[in-house]
Amino acid sequence: MADLKIHNLKKGFDGNEIIKGIDLDIRDREFVVFVGPSGCGKSTLLRLIAGLEEVSSGRIELDGRDITDVSPAKRDLAMVFQTYALYPHMTVRKNMSFALDLAGADKQEVARKIEAAARTLELEPLLERKPRQLSGGQRQRVAIGRAIVRNPKVFLFDEPLSNLDAALRVQMRLELSRLHQELQATMIYVTHDQVEAMTLADKVVVLNGGRIEQVGSPMELYHNPANLFVAGFLGTPKMGFLKGRASRVEASGCEVELDAGCRLFLPVSGATLKTGDPVTLGIRPEHLNRGSEGNCQLTVKADVSERLGSDTYCHVVTGNGEQLTMRIRGDFTPRYGESLSLTLEATHCHLFDSNGVAVGQSLQQAA
Ligand SMILES: Nc1ncnc2c1ncn2[C@@H]1O[C@H](COP(=O)(O)OP(=O)(O)OP(=O)(O)O)[C@@H](O)[C@H]1O
Ligand SMILES: [Mg+2]
Repeated sequence: MADLKIHNLKKGFDGNEIIKGIDLDIRDREFVVFVGPSGCGKSTLLRLIAGLEEVSSGRIELDGRDITDVSPAKRDLAMVFQTYALYPHMTVRKNMSFALDLAGADKQEVARKIEAAARTLELEPLLERKPRQLSGGQRQRVAIGRAIVRNPKVFLFDEPLSNLDAALRVQMRLELSRLHQELQATMIYVTHDQVEAMTLADKVVVLNGGRIEQVGSPMELYHNPANLFVAGFLGTPKMGFLKGRASRVEASGCEVELDAGCRLFLPVSGATLKTGDPVTLGIRPEHLNRGSEGNCQLTVKADVSERLGSDTYCHVVTGNGEQLTMRIRGDFTPRYGESLSLTLEATHCHLFDSNGVAVGQSLQQAA
């Protein structure tokens, strides 16, 4: 069992509050990802959980036990860092056994655990090598192996893949997912890479400026972002935003008049808006279509396009200077500056009020 509960956790450095009151429940065997822009406090929050930083106030509980003031070694957690922090003069085997040897663990038991971890991580042929004789990905696996042999209640990872090249990152990402399935352990993983967050997590915690913006499954966050920050942070390419006003508000939805020059009716439930209120409409690149069929048609100018083979990301600019990205299957590429007609899929639009808070829930996506 490994249930972690965080209550109103705060941390300041030199009078600056960095973690500003975090409440979070992490359930046994969950894979939880902390994601957010650089400097938002992800590593600090992880280090507070690990006990590597002292909290300013608040409480951390592991399986009902208050561990807020317990030393890191006694928390039953294992941390894997971005810099693998392997001992260069020790073999892979010794690097993995070191903490257990120090704790006076039974030698045969240690050997058995190392063999098992090496098998899981495909490190068996490398056990007698030194870290400098390993590739980056292999070193990373040793660092993970060192955590596995300690059989912790919770694994803490701080950007463990960011020193690897793109192909290896993808491979290690899959291996981590597999490892989570095999070990059935609770894992907390920090990254600023939203693709890692979306693909690895059962639960994503979006942090911004030391606060939680939203917690939910990757698909909940993708389809129902609670605010403009989460909407803009998750998804590649990013969601496009268009300014406008609520021109008609009804029980069944809200009509929006966009500054870019069209009106459309959005079937959002529980609209708390009044006629005339300023709003921001959000639309993901896959929900913008070429052509003039549809109830909201915009004329835009093509900016640059990015061809990926399977898809093309066409960046476009509206008449009033707002930028959107359209995702088109195949390799259609408009000429730079060409005039294009687009339509928005109203059922997939998101609506935000003047404070950037999502208005209602899309009826289409809630169904
Ligand atoms: N020991 C410290 N003393 C003073 N300020 C610190 C200390 N550790 C972190 N900070 C500050 O706290 C803020 C959050 O840092 P943190 O390392 O948690 O960010 P992060 O979200 O992990 O960012 P990144 O994605 O760049 O790793 C930063 O502004 C940082 O400068
Ligand atoms: Mg960090």
